[in-house]
Amino acid sequence: MGNYSIAVLAGDGIGPEVIEQAVRVLQNIGKRYGHTFNLQHAMVGIAAIEAEGDAISDATMQLCQQSDAILFGAVGGIPRFEGPNSKIQPERALFRLRKELSLYANLRPVRPLKALLNASTIKPEVLQGTDLLVVRELTGGLYFGKPSEIRETPEGLVAVDTLLYSEAEIERIVRTAFELARGRRKKVTSVDKANVLSTSRLWRRTADRIAPDYPDVSLEHLLVDTCAMQFIRQPSSFDVIVTENTFGDILTDEASMLAGSMGMLPSASLGTRETAHGLFGLYEPIHGSAPDITGQNKANPIAAILSTAMMLRHSFNLQQEAQAIETAVERVINAGYRTADLHEPGKITVGTKEMGGLIAETISD
Ligand code: IPM
Ligand code: MG
Repeated sequence: MGNYSIAVLAGDGIGPEVIEQAVRVLQNIGKRYGHTFNLQHAMVGIAAIEAEGDAISDATMQLCQQSDAILFGAVGGIPRFEGPNSKIQPERALFRLRKELSLYANLRPVRPLKALLNASTIKPEVLQGTDLLVVRELTGGLYFGKPSEIRETPEGLVAVDTLLYSEAEIERIVRTAFELARGRRKKVTSVDKANVLSTSRLWRRTADRIAPDYPDVSLEHLLVDTCAMQFIRQPSSFDVIVTENTFGDILTDEASMLAGSMGMLPSASLGTRETAHGLFGLYEPIHGSAPDITGQNKANPIAAILSTAMMLRHSFNLQQEAQAIETAVERVINAGYRTADLHEPGKITVGTKEMGGLIAETISD
């Protein structure tokens, strides 16, 4: 019987709607297994900029530091946030959390459910057997490199971003990938652009240097453009994929379509800090704030719900409870319920609340 403290940062757009359902599911896990989840809600993103003057306040950062895990919804919106503090972008909340809490390993598993093979735009026979894990580096690369700015010059405006990686940063994320592969099918694909980028050449060299420490795991290198192609040609050929921040961002949106919809993909962002219960982490759906469907009870809450399952597994060591959530999701999908993003003829289309309710009830069964 554990007592776990969770910082809940629902954020913008559909964030609050999907997080509400994830919390409902979590509460039912608590009831069924006798755990107490202490939820501390705080603002991030546009709401925080308006009310607190920053995308995430120092007080909220502190709350996160003191909690056992963070459950995060989404930040940002389109049109771009244009309030009085419009220089502050809502995404800053995510970047601050990732960087200041050293959450450098972003795990994004893609395992299409059998019942959803027809919901994808990719042929079911191509999807068959797909079970991959993207390990995205999350605190380096273009997202954090300086300088990053637009400059006025006599020749007109120019812009620069900086792609920088230290060997140490590469090494720790590659080691994470090898460790995770040991618990799976023992294959790591390191994705880079070594034919063009210096950072990729250091990445590849570092991966090769580390590989002998894991003789039971095989390592292959793939160029990022080839990887993007291979994802839709033969996704079942992958086990663990490790790559830098920007490549990982792009590839995981692509990979989400293998699972039928962005609304299905959870993620975990981990570092090395241990709490009394396990590894501290931030858990969030990979989809964004989806302003076009906000407040319409249309969003798919499954990515958020599966993110809580990842939280139970990685941060609280509650394997059985995590499995209970995943099984409940699969049972509800197998029973024919779909949110609009997964619409298929002959299936029952339900809203965000109804989907959350069905999954929560299945857990209490
Ligand atoms: C993601 C998102 C974020 C990212 C955005 C919201 C800044 O796309 O987590 O994949 O690019 O990291
Ligand atoms: Mg992304």
